[in-house]
Amino acid sequence: MKNPSQSLISRLAFRLICFFPLQPTIIRSAMKQTRLLSVNLQDIDAEILAQATAVFHAGGLVSFPTETVYGLGADALNETAVRKIFTAKQRPAYDPIIAHIATVDDLPRLAINIPDVAYQLADHFWPGPLTLILPKAAHVPDALTAGGATVAVRCPNHPLAQALIRAAGTPIGAPSANRFSHTSPTTAQHVWDDLNGRIDLILDGGATTIGVESTVLDLTQAVPVLLRPGGVTLEALTAVLPIVRQRETAVAISPDTTAQPSPGMLDKHYAPKTPLWLFSGSDAHIRNELHRILNEQPPKQTALMIAEEDLPYFTDHTGEIGIVGSLADLDGVAKNLFRTMRQLDNDKNTLILARNYPAVGIGQALQDRLRRAAASLFTN
Ligand code: TXA
Ligand code: MG
Repeated sequence: MKNPSQSLISRLAFRLICFFPLQPTIIRSAMKQTRLLSVNLQDIDAEILAQATAVFHAGGLVSFPTETVYGLGADALNETAVRKIFTAKQRPAYDPIIAHIATVDDLPRLAINIPDVAYQLADHFWPGPLTLILPKAAHVPDALTAGGATVAVRCPNHPLAQALIRAAGTPIGAPSANRFSHTSPTTAQHVWDDLNGRIDLILDGGATTIGVESTVLDLTQAVPVLLRPGGVTLEALTAVLPIVRQRETAVAISPDTTAQPSPGMLDKHYAPKTPLWLFSGSDAHIRNELHRILNEQPPKQTALMIAEEDLPYFTDHTGEIGIVGSLADLDGVAKNLFRTMRQLDNDKNTLILARNYPAVGIGQALQDRLRRAAASLFTN
């Protein structure tokens, strides 16, 4: 559990630094001095890019925004630097990292035997939230690919990410900038909360626009395999690439019709510290179930993570309510999902009850993230 006064101090320090971005922005910590610089995306400061580039060239770590979530970057071709990402995030070495490039022309710097379909997809979706898995070039460090023969590559659609990669002159390896298995960060404050004292620099470019990570597509199989649903929807993908195989989901939904929770079946990820219970089914079923659980739990400590349309049914709830967005605008829900999850994950709440969303468009990614964040699943 976070100490509330520590968290307040952290927030105040963050605000101060945002307010005086060009003042010395050094916060002392037992481990490392993390600098935080605020960046104007309309007019990216060359001096800030130079500072970030210097960190990359020295083998250090820089967190920066992409259109999906904040990344934790290092020079992808520097093995020692890439290893530092794993240490900072406390990420197991078996989980490989995405290399970010500024243009498709740099793809051959990382991958070999690149199939035509990769260029076709890049043509449609790059820069953008699509990650392609390809056979790796020999010089790509094992640390990046977790010793595997393939490399994940993405070209982000964000002015600061683009400027940074170009300035660094090297592909940037970057996972999401959260502690391993914690909720992904969509603001610089989230990165600060997770990694202050563990990395060199955070570039604050405001909240990310998509809010969930990129779609990961494996092009090394006979039929492309969707490894992770994300910012590019399956519908958009299949318009370009008619045959895509979906990976067997790592997360089992309980077939139990008595709506019992099914703990221990989940590929835990994206998880808040406060247990999150996820409710699926029709809107009426979800609302009934939420009411049933609210009758059994201390209401003041039970937070609801629901849609605008649910709100009229819970006006007498005395605990915290996080509205993620409207059922009619799943892109809006995606944008707010992780932020709301983090907001409700505070010392006051002992439980978060969250609704699920339809698997349409970006809804597939919403379902994936919510299921993996959940301690228990309730379905009908
Ligand atoms: O939107 C995103 O993809 C963000 C931003 C920062 O670009 N990055 C991100 O990275 O979400 P990360 O590390 O949190 O998730 C990358 C996923 C992981 O599940 C990892 O296992 C998978 O991609 N991955 C990376 N390299 C792979 C490879 N060679 N083969 C299969 N999966 C791979
Ligand atoms: Mg991640």
